[in-house]
Amino acid sequence: MKPYSNPNLQTTMKTLQWIGDTSGHLRLIDQTRLPVEETYLDCHTVAQTHDAIRRLVVRGAPAIGIAAAYGVCVAVAEARREQPDLSVADARAAAHSAIDYLATSRPTAVNLFWALDRMRGIVDGSEDDSLAQRLLQEATAIHEQDRQMCAAMGQHGAPLLADCRNVLTHCNAGGLAASELGTALAVIYAAHDAGTPLHVYADETRPLLQGARLTAWELSRAGIDVTVLCDSMPACLMREGKIDAVIVGADRVAANGDAANKIGTYALAIVARHHGVPFYVVAPSSTFDMQLESGEGIPIEQRDRQEVSHPFGKQTVPDDAGVFNPAFDVTPADLITAIVTERGIIRPVNTANVLHVLANFAER
Ligand code: MRU
Repeated sequence: MKPYSNPNLQTTMKTLQWIGDTSGHLRLIDQTRLPVEETYLDCHTVAQTHDAIRRLVVRGAPAIGIAAAYGVCVAVAEARREQPDLSVADARAAAHSAIDYLATSRPTAVNLFWALDRMRGIVDGSEDDSLAQRLLQEATAIHEQDRQMCAAMGQHGAPLLADCRNVLTHCNAGGLAASELGTALAVIYAAHDAGTPLHVYADETRPLLQGARLTAWELSRAGIDVTVLCDSMPACLMREGKIDAVIVGADRVAANGDAANKIGTYALAIVARHHGVPFYVVAPSSTFDMQLESGEGIPIEQRDRQEVSHPFGKQTVPDDAGVFNPAFDVTPADLITAIVTERGIIRPVNTANVLHVLANFAER
């Protein structure tokens, strides 16, 4: 399905590709090198796949889930290369150990665990030698389902931006973070395609600059006006009335609608509330963790001090200073104007409405 009518809206993104048949491999656009170089990394082993997720070669909640699903296929292909007469039991063992290993790559985005649970279901349900084929079918289905969910979120969310001219986003919730359109950016693409002349402010998103490097690259490539600003600037812009809406993705949404997203999102939601600016979260069902009553239980990834002390290879913090580097924070539901899902819009954001909108999900 091509969701947009404007042929100049270049949203197709080769974030993740499976190359070949069941003995093939995973190809990822290397997001650590964007926007300077558009290069691809081939993962032929489960260790390479784990490392690619951990190092943010591939990042963004839906994309991590898809990568992990393909990572299980990579593991079985790898085991068969090492042992051409691999038994079904050994193939299943390789897949199980890959699932456990890939689950340790990053803790916050629940899409990773959602996708790995689906792959575990295939391993546990396959007794014959079609396991590799079934795993690849499942990973491909997860990938395709994400495409459809992103397109649907775009269509549901676009009317929310119909009267907006300037919207602000944080981190990258675009095609680089998912199958191809993304979550928050899918809404921006759909609104733009529907004729809303949007200009996007992209927070640079310290410390790894996903906004400056990735969102600005992706939107420019799609022909959408984008301006990068430091993370400390949105309050001034909002006071001047220059932001009509804030729209972001999420890495894990609890049953009550509390949403974890890139560090800095919570502060942005407070600033938006103070200035009366609507604050939208866009997330597919695969990002909801209905086991968690509230955001208090969401595990927050703590990353290496080097990302803050030596950003992009240059030391900016003295050796003796401590560094605090959580990758995510949690925005309480009461600061979120609405959550856009592929099934519809949750508004106001509370447990009853989350359950109501998600009730029809066949997959959960
Ligand atoms: O550390 P990252 O780059 O994986 O963090 C990504 C984000 O926080 C995104 O906003 C989130 O995954 C939503 S993606 C559609």
